[in-house]
Formats: sequence, C-alpha cells, structure tokens
Amino acid sequence: MKYLATSILAIAAIGVSLGVMQHKAHADNDSSQEALERNRIEEGFRIAPVYLNYDHKDRNLVGLGSYLVNAVGGCNDCHTNPSYLPGGDPFRGQTKIVNSQHYLAGGQAFGPFISRNLTPENGLPEGHTLAEFKNILRTGIDYDHLHPQISPLLQVMPWPTYQSMTDHDIEAIYAYLSSIPPATPGP
Ligand code: HEC
Repeated sequence: MKYLATSILAIAAIGVSLGVMQHKAHADNDSSQEALERNRIEEGFRIAPVYLNYDHKDRNLVGLGSYLVNAVGGCNDCHTNPSYLPGGDPFRGQTKIVNSQHYLAGGQAFGPFISRNLTPENGLPEGHTLAEFKNILRTGIDYDHLHPQISPLLQVMPWPTYQSMTDHDIEAIYAYLSSIPPATPGP
C-alpha cells in the first residue's frame, strides 16, 4: 500500500514537472518571437529614408511597416520616380541613396500602367481607409478605375503575392504609409 502511494506521488510529480517544462519551452518560444519582431521594428526605424510622423499612431506598428516596405516589399523600386538619386543608384554599383524627396509618390511607367502615389492625402495613405487598403492588397481592386478598358484590376503591382500577408503585417504597412511625408511624383 505504501509502495503504491509513493509510486502515484512519483508519477504525479513527473507529470507536473513535464507540464512545467512544456510551459517554459512555450514561454521561451514566445519571447524569441517577440525578440524577432523587436529586431524588425528597430531595423525598420533605422532604414526609413524619410522623417516619420507618428502622432496618434502605434509606434511599433509603424516600425514594422517600415521594415516590410523598405526591407521586404520593394515598394520604393516601383513607387518612387526615380527610385534612387544620381550617384546613389545601386543598379550602377553605387551605394544606394533613396530619392527621399519623391519617396513613394508614384509616377514610374510600366507600359501603359503608372505606379500610384502612396503618400498621405488628408492623413490617409493615398486617401484610402484601412479597410480599402486591405481590399487593394488582397484583391487588386482599383478604386480609381484608371483603365477599365484593359482591366478593373491593378496590373504590374504584385498584389497576388502581398495578398498572403497577415492582417497584422498589412496594418503595419498602412500605419507606416500614414506616417511618411506627403510628396508629389518626380519628373
Ligand atoms: C513591380 C512594381 C510594384 C511594386 C514592387 C509595388 N507596386 Fe504598388 N503598384 C504598382 C503599379 C504599376 C500600380 C498601378 C497599377 C495599375 O494602374 O494597374 C500600383 C498600385 C498600387 C496601389 C493602388 C493605389 C491606389 O490609389 O488605389 C497600392 C495601394 C500599392 N500599389 C501599394 C504598394 C505597396 C504597399 C507596395 C510594397 C509593399 C507596392 N505597391 C509595391 C507597382 C508596384
């Protein structure tokens, strides 16, 4: 009888400590996830090529958005005209200098399709609400109906790739695009 009670206690103790170990592994995992996101947020602030205005905005979301736009999404390569300053063109082997004056203001032509101005209009990126912005990135809908004779959908713009981003990432891009200075397209 005594032997049985001791065994039950021992088994229970193993069960509890396994549970604790599992919990700890989970917590470590969570904190490494947080560290990863923090790295991306800090890198986002480091590489933003323009002054950011984050009044009333979630600062972390803006930093992550900068990372997604400037280190992952390549938005500048299509949405800034020209994307780099003379002497700072990485395609000529020069150290890159982003064209911050016309940053993300659109105006690059891809055949008949011209990239749009993504900078804030009345505080909203290209005047779109977050719901509209999500819809654009997920479905390619063109709210401006610029070329209905060719297609109702945005062309060239890689929305078929961006559509798989998480809601959180799209919200971060939106927060970042709300924080950059308004600009006009380059010549
Ligand atoms: C390969 C070039 C390319 C890249 C990269 C690109 N875009 Fe675009 N984008 C375009 C073009 C071109 C249009 C206009 C397409 C048309 O007229 O059919 C456009 C349109 C848009 C629109 C619609 C604007 C409006 O007012 O309705 C949004 C929003 C947009 N892009 C956001 C982005 C964001 C954010 C990124 C980076 C994550 C990005 N784009 C990267 C080429 C690109």
